[in-house]
Amino acid sequence: MRIDISGKRVLVTASSSGIGKGVARAFLKEGCKVIISSRNKENLDKTVSELKSSIFPSVWGVQMDLTDYHSIEAGLRQIIDLMGGIDVLIFNFGNPTNEPSYFDETTMEDWEYSVRMYLEGPIQILKRLLPFMRRQRYGRIFFLSSWTVKSPQSHFTLADVSRSPVIQLSKILSKDEGRNGITVNTVLMGSFPTPGAERSLKRIAERKNESYDELWKREVLSPIAVGRIGDPEKDLGSLLVFLSSEYGGYVTGSSILIDGGSSPYVL
Ligand SMILES: NC(=O)c1ccc[n+]([C@@H]2O[C@H](COP(=O)([O-])OP(=O)(O)OC[C@H]3O[C@@H](n4cnc5c(N)ncnc54)[C@H](OP(=O)(O)O)[C@@H]3O)[C@@H](O)[C@H]2O)c1
Repeated sequence: MRIDISGKRVLVTASSSGIGKGVARAFLKEGCKVIISSRNKENLDKTVSELKSSIFPSVWGVQMDLTDYHSIEAGLRQIIDLMGGIDVLIFNFGNPTNEPSYFDETTMEDWEYSVRMYLEGPIQILKRLLPFMRRQRYGRIFFLSSWTVKSPQSHFTLADVSRSPVIQLSKILSKDEGRNGITVNTVLMGSFPTPGAERSLKRIAERKNESYDELWKREVLSPIAVGRIGDPEKDLGSLLVFLSSEYGGYVTGSSILIDGGSSPYVL
């Protein structure tokens, strides 16, 4: 099987670092035109020049804060001017403010930020980009989520509650858009080494008064059946590249688990 998705126009949200950046690299390696985006222009510029210097010329940075209606609108205008539409739309996210936090510790501002980022931001983007996909009769949409939506964690209450409705949205869109050549899937991610994951685990370790290394071994590494943490580019990026190719057209409306076998669930 030879996969050719070269030239596809790809947008990865929240991708100046971590998972989003790794996924962007995977598509750049396949010869796609990739737009990375995030809130912070400095981070974006740094990542764009790093990717360009790794011999990936077809990368652009567009500032877009998923919690800010006007920022998204301005970003979308830029993207449409630049690319005339998008073929592969990958929704990655930042982290809620104050994460990890238990329900009692959250404020209404935290909820507003989290729901805006995980749900309303993507809806706003979909409303603008779906018509382009319909016209070209091809599109791939991925919502990068977490295995924790199957087993919500108290200290991730903001993220796990706010990103769960996206699974319903993903299913509904897969049914409505399948005949237009558009597939829509949610990806339930396990553990990937990123600045965000490290930050979060450090805070949990502090709260539990435990060493970071011990917590990492016990809670992160030891449950992973294959005995290693995931690589955002090689493990996750390759899966998304495959699903974006002509061979991925029959996979839609699914919640795909990619966690190295750490989840205890069979379904
Ligand atoms: N790492 C894991 O093991 C893991 C596992 C399951 C799920 N997840 C989820 O995957 C997502 C990404 O995690 P990560 O570990 O890669 O985090 P990360 O290393 O902190 O990276 C987050 C990225 O999102 C951007 N960002 C943050 N807030 C944003 C906003 N409001 N609008 C647009 N961009 C924003 C950041 O850039 P700027 O600061 O420049 O905006 C950065 O590029 C999170 O939702 C996390 O819960 C992670």
